[in-house]
Amino acid sequence: MTTTEQPAPQVRRPAPWWRRPWVFPLGLLVTAFLVFSLPPYLGLDPAQSRIPAPTGWYYPALVTHIGFATVAMVTCTLQIWPWLRQNHPSVHRRTGRVYVFAGAIPASIAGCTIALAAPFGPVGAVSNVLLAALWFGCTVQGYRMARARRFGEHRRWMIRSFALCMSIISNRIWGVVWSVVLAPQLDTTFGGSELALGQQIAGITTWTGWVFPLLAAEWWLGRRPRRRADAPSPG
Ligand code: HEM
Repeated sequence: MTTTEQPAPQVRRPAPWWRRPWVFPLGLLVTAFLVFSLPPYLGLDPAQSRIPAPTGWYYPALVTHIGFATVAMVTCTLQIWPWLRQNHPSVHRRTGRVYVFAGAIPASIAGCTIALAAPFGPVGAVSNVLLAALWFGCTVQGYRMARARRFGEHRRWMIRSFALCMSIISNRIWGVVWSVVLAPQLDTTFGGSELALGQQIAGITTWTGWVFPLLAAEWWLGRRPRRRADAPSPG
């Protein structure tokens, strides 16, 4: 790691945190999600799991996934924070390595494994496997671009990685929406089958959970001019 002097006259200072209203709401949202999601898994008791384990290895893989995914969510929130990036670039680099190697990569591999055996039907399984592959791919590509000092492309891949990581929050919201929309159709569309209803809700929820955040990320990347594409290292 090298230390370089900040080219003070050229650097555009980031807006102070109180003028970036999304940073703290995002932190609160992530905290609320984790406080709601994690407690059943902290005791490592399969009986507390919200998801019925279909095989012997499923629960350990699920807990592994949740542990690494938690590290990913927390570090990803820090990584996307402009103030931290621009004022503490060495923290950004270290936390970034934690996000990649102790967060997104192991969490996506474990997520893919449990997706293949998850008890929510094939539509949701295909969606989750694709999500895991995209999360893994965008993160690795973002890391490679940083190593190659191509920081404009690094930023683009990591914004996609961020959207996919945070899509788990959108997933939970869509789960409520599709339950409310589809439950009244139990006796009509689903012929009284609770299994069919549950699998349809899970399937549509997983697809909408990550496709919309990824589309939003692409829109965001498309509408903003490519800034700092050829800029020097952030630190
Ligand atoms: C973005 C890629 C991700 C993939 C592919 C993925 C995949 C999965 C799969 C397949 C399950 C089993 C249940 C199901 O089918 O819904 C699951 C459960 C779970 N995941 Fe993920 N996940 C991802 C991201 C995350 C993140 C970022 C977190 C944050 C901590 C997370 C936390 C959890 C939790 C807490 C559960 C247990 C579900 C519950 O208790 O409600 N996942 N995940």
